[in-house]
Amino acid sequence: MSETVRKVGIVGIGNVGKAAASAILHENIADELYISDIDSERAKGEAWDFADSIEVTPSRTRVFEVPLEGLAQCDVILVSVTERSQIPQGSRLELLKGTAAIAYDIVPKLREAGFKGIYVIATNPCDIITYLFYHLSGLPKNQVIGTGTALDSMRLRRQISEALGGIDPRSISAYMVGEHGDSQIAAWSHVRIGGQSLDEYEAENSDRFGKLDRDKIEDTARHFGWEIHKRKGNTQFGIGNQLAFFAKSILNDARNVTPASVILEGEYGQKDVAAGVPIVLGRDGVKEILHFHLSGKEQESFNASAELIKGYIDQTLA
Ligand code: LAC
Repeated sequence: MSETVRKVGIVGIGNVGKAAASAILHENIADELYISDIDSERAKGEAWDFADSIEVTPSRTRVFEVPLEGLAQCDVILVSVTERSQIPQGSRLELLKGTAAIAYDIVPKLREAGFKGIYVIATNPCDIITYLFYHLSGLPKNQVIGTGTALDSMRLRRQISEALGGIDPRSISAYMVGEHGDSQIAAWSHVRIGGQSLDEYEAENSDRFGKLDRDKIEDTARHFGWEIHKRKGNTQFGIGNQLAFFAKSILNDARNVTPASVILEGEYGQKDVAAGVPIVLGRDGVKEILHFHLSGKEQESFNASAELIKGYIDQTLA
């Protein structure tokens, strides 16, 4: 990692890539932002458009359009590639064929070009594509990270917040784990409200909220992406901001705990798979995987989710 100049790359400058780029400029996350897209003219247009806002951003971030190999010098590459023609109808898994083909195309090229930094992957289906990047890049597992259930966890915290009369979601610690998809599960056994366990908080406040309808909250959070998708045809800002947040944590060596899709080698009883779990995120990427002792039922569902991801990984690597 370069000491002084923070270099972030974005591959795929569609709706998500653009949202990430905007957050990076407005939060002073990078000194240099490199944008690459298969449609290089379009990427050039986006880069120039972003460059026009530099005078009103908190600091000077230089924005460049580069061919794919030009990203190899970056500390972090944010991956938001997708096939423009592909619009999923009911599951992120529908995207796999197209996005896996893109991964098979671009990862070896970046490897060849000498990329040694950290990949942060939002491309869906996120867990499978993350594993594929790990497999193809030759990078250590701590340097390949999917946004995974980070966004779903945010959605879960918001649902819990609403059920608890509006407590700031940032004071609620709650994790979705497993697949960034329909098989994800809420780790209810580890939900904390300002440090207090949810069970204890509910008991203390039974006259105000009664017992939360956990199944309904979990289900709403799990499918929230689709509620957005149904209305605007994509999700963009939540995930774009999430990508920028990951880049910021890495470049600042923030060591914050966040859910992310990471390569498991025995953690949570799983291996040869990428799945969403809580991690410590810092300059080396994944600094640590937190081992939550899930309840029996949660662990069972987590295993099923990991098996599902693994099935698709095997199919994609075959
Ligand atoms: C979402 C996309 C990123 O959940 O899968 O918004």
